Amino acid sequence: MSKIDLFLILLSFSINLSLAIDDECYMTVPEIGKHFGYESEVHLVRTTDEYILELHRIPCKQNEKCDRSSKRPIVFMQHGLLADGFSWIPNLANQSAGFVFADAGFDIWIANSRGTPASQKHIGYGPENQKFWNFTWQQMSEFDLTASVDLVLKETKQEFLYYLGHSQGTMIMFSRLAENPEFAKKIRHFHALAPVATVSHIGGLFGLFGTKFLTYAEILLGRLPYSPLSIPRTVQKMISYMCSRFFMQNICTLDIGFIDGNEKMFNQSRVGVYLCHTPAATSVKDLQHWIQLVKSQTVSKFDYGTDGNIIEYGQPTPPEYDLTQINTPTYLYWSRDDILADTQDIRDSILSKMNKTIAGSLELPHYSHMDFVFGTHAAFDLYPKIIETIQDDYNKYRITRMHKLKKHL
Ligand SMILES: *[C@@H]1O[C@H](CO)[C@@H](O)[C@H](O)[C@H]1NC(C)=O
Ligand SMILES: *[C@@H]1O[C@H](CO)[C@@H](O)[C@H](O)[C@H]1NC(C)=O
Ligand SMILES: *[C@@H]1O[C@H](CO)[C@@H](O)[C@H](O)[C@H]1NC(C)=O
Ligand SMILES: *[C@@H]1O[C@H](CO)[C@@H](O)[C@H](O)[C@H]1NC(C)=O
Repeated sequence: MSKIDLFLILLSFSINLSLAIDDECYMTVPEIGKHFGYESEVHLVRTTDEYILELHRIPCKQNEKCDRSSKRPIVFMQHGLLADGFSWIPNLANQSAGFVFADAGFDIWIANSRGTPASQKHIGYGPENQKFWNFTWQQMSEFDLTASVDLVLKETKQEFLYYLGHSQGTMIMFSRLAENPEFAKKIRHFHALAPVATVSHIGGLFGLFGTKFLTYAEILLGRLPYSPLSIPRTVQKMISYMCSRFFMQNICTLDIGFIDGNEKMFNQSRVGVYLCHTPAATSVKDLQHWIQLVKSQTVSKFDYGTDGNIIEYGQPTPPEYDLTQINTPTYLYWSRDDILADTQDIRDSILSKMNKTIAGSLELPHYSHMDFVFGTHAAFDLYPKIIETIQDDYNKYRITRMHKLKKHL
């Protein structure tokens, strides 16, 4: 075969590749927003430890231009582990949380944690430096969340926002609320989808292989230098191509389904698009932290070992987060079929410790872990309930504020 032939074959393959996958495969969150007819903005956040993150905003309804300065309730959306902002806009406009909430009249802000494709910048060094990947959800909570929320409130001149978190996105909020009552004032409601605040009874990948596997995995990960946990972009595109092309969707959903159990509600013909964006990169250390939690059955900061903990925290064991300190009205959305956010964990850790502040708890039928964001059903049985709750609350807030203003006059 001549070089030209090989060149032509490769060329036709790559043309094929770009044609076969849905356009959204190649798009960023703001581009997907525009693709579906939504105004989209990118805002840069600088954290106090100098990471640069992208926040994606969908300020208006579909095919509308709106007045940015008019005060509307803000919904801040925080994705989970190995995911990014795409989690909130994976399906058609009437099925994806980001779009459905925008159409309900909310000002949508979508976070991208450090390490995800949109947030791989740092003032001092790039992602090729080991230091860049020296983080877990603990830093996403301490630095990314706080800086992002502050930027949103400054930009919109508002005092609070409504928070919607999925999976690790709930841990990021649980830990922050437990530690920082000042920060908690900025969060009007916490809506927790597939909440995780301990992972003792986890039944997915980890549960499947048992503690022995976990111990090996922990040792293995511990040997790796600080590095990203990601699939190279080209490989990810190839997987996506094969999964959308060769009718292997059922096998391909295993990629997401593996750590996940089952998924019955995905749009099978969009699996290629999901797989272009998921798994998104995070740090190896983040996964290490999760394994530590499964093994210790606690919600603690990263464990550096006795000596390391004394240096880092001034005590031999990593500090635990105290969920009983949380006072923010919290709504839980969970399912018996979600093997990552285990029902017993939710009962033992979240419901019992936070019972004074749990404002609502809704069990969803047959939801797997990713269905809360990727499932096309969520727009029927989940999002409308959250929207109603927030709208009711915001109306109450407006009425109370009006009464207060009148008294002053
Ligand atoms: C990673 O962070 C820990 C805790 O702050 C620190 O002790 C360690 O030196 C850092 N390692 C690198 C390679 O930056
Ligand atoms: C599934 O996704 C495809 C491709 O994006 C779309 O054309 C179709 O309408 C979707 N199906 C459902 C039931 O939402
Ligand atoms: C909350 O849980 C604690 C401990 O489980 C229990 O003692 C207390 O009565 C509960 N409070 C409410 C309001 O249910
Ligand atoms: C969204 O639109 C599709 C196609 O028009 C329709 O099949 C589906 O039922 C709609 N979903 C919702 C939640 O309204």
